[in-house]
Amino acid sequence: MTYEEYYGDMLPVLKQTEKYLLDLINKFQTENPLEGVEPIIYCTSRIKAPESLKTKLELNGYSADRETALREMHDIVGIRVICSFADDVYDVVNWLCGREEFEVVTQKDYIARPKPNGYRSYHLILNLKEGAGKGLKVEIQVRTIATDFWAALEHQIKYKHDVKNEKMIREELKRCADEIASVDMSMQTIRDIIREES
Ligand code: GTP
Ligand code: MG
Repeated sequence: MTYEEYYGDMLPVLKQTEKYLLDLINKFQTENPLEGVEPIIYCTSRIKAPESLKTKLELNGYSADRETALREMHDIVGIRVICSFADDVYDVVNWLCGREEFEVVTQKDYIARPKPNGYRSYHLILNLKEGAGKGLKVEIQVRTIATDFWAALEHQIKYKHDVKNEKMIREELKRCADEIASVDMSMQTIRDIIREES
């Protein structure tokens, strides 16, 4: 099923909302002028594919129609903000949470409290208070470029369950995630030292 068939007249609204959020996040850079390394390296965004949305709805016991999706799902519009350093992640999150355009529905800090598999990221669910997408919930994930590298690969490694090596693979992925987090901290420290000196 195509995006047009599933989302119908909501598709332009979703696209507008996606652009509105990307433009807004761009403002963070202009409001926080550069000193040294840019806090946001890039953003990605997507509107959830109908098939993936329907699967998620059914898994959660909902019917798969558009109205239910718009009411129950919060990640139809999803934005990912890739930052240089861990501190930048918190700066972006705090800046977003302080804006009048949104009501913060949930925030999950998987950086302070990583998932058992080692996943680290900051997730925000925001309810839009104005604009074309008023009343729509959106998901914004904010993470460092190092943790994004891990998440991108981990997502693709669809390791089979019940294989002999499953435990070892899980442990190795977790070890990599922890090493990456440690590298993030070192990079942050290097940046902080350079800042103090200049
Ligand atoms: P869904 O996973 O979307 O059903 O929502 P949830 O309520 O479990 O929220 P959660 O914050 O755990 O995850 C939302 C999104 O974060 C996922 O759709 C992924 O994009 C990302 N994510 C969460 N956990 C992982 C993980 O272990 N690995 C990777 N690569 N991505 C993850
Ligand atoms: Mg999940």
